[in-house]
Amino acid sequence: MNILLAGAEATLRLGVSLGESLTVGSVILLNGDLGSGKTTLVQGIGQGLGITEPIVSPTFTLINEYREGRIPLYHLDLYRLEPSEVVGLNLEIYWEGVEVIPGIVAIEWAEKMPYKPDSYLSVVLNYGDHGPRQAKITPVNFSYLGVVG
Ligand SMILES: Nc1ncnc2c1ncn2[C@@H]1O[C@H](COP(=O)(O)OP(=O)(O)O)[C@@H](O)[C@H]1O
Ligand SMILES: [Mg+2]
Repeated sequence: MNILLAGAEATLRLGVSLGESLTVGSVILLNGDLGSGKTTLVQGIGQGLGITEPIVSPTFTLINEYREGRIPLYHLDLYRLEPSEVVGLNLEIYWEGVEVIPGIVAIEWAEKMPYKPDSYLSVVLNYGDHGPRQAKITPVNFSYLGVVG
């Protein structure tokens, strides 16, 4: 599914509808060039979950955790890592929800993951060629019943 995002507000709103409807254990894998809107989308997800604390890019911290909303949010950014470094992070603990409280996992630069969860929602953001930016949303073994838009 392709969604046109006329401005930052539209990216935020798409995130809000995801945050309002996603269920525990959902993994959102985000890809797209630097500045394409990945963090903005996660800020919307946070808003939709009811998180009031500002959601900031985890480019340097690697992961930021927010416990305040209806479900915990784990926000990761793999930008600074090589795929070989990602292996050792044992990211699966976030979607298995055994060692950490189950929540929603949003991962920027997911293309750096050498392995992926069995089910996830892929969101690829791109600068439109001539028109507005776009989000391409692809569920992978993922039943998503929420209304997006
Ligand atoms: N659909 C959009 N159209 C125009 N600007 C946008 C859109 N979505 C987000 N932005 C803006 O793009 C900039 C970079 O967004 P950001 O979410 O930090 O990108 P990324 O995390 O992919 O690097 C921000 O200033 C943000 O407000
Ligand atoms: Mg970012």
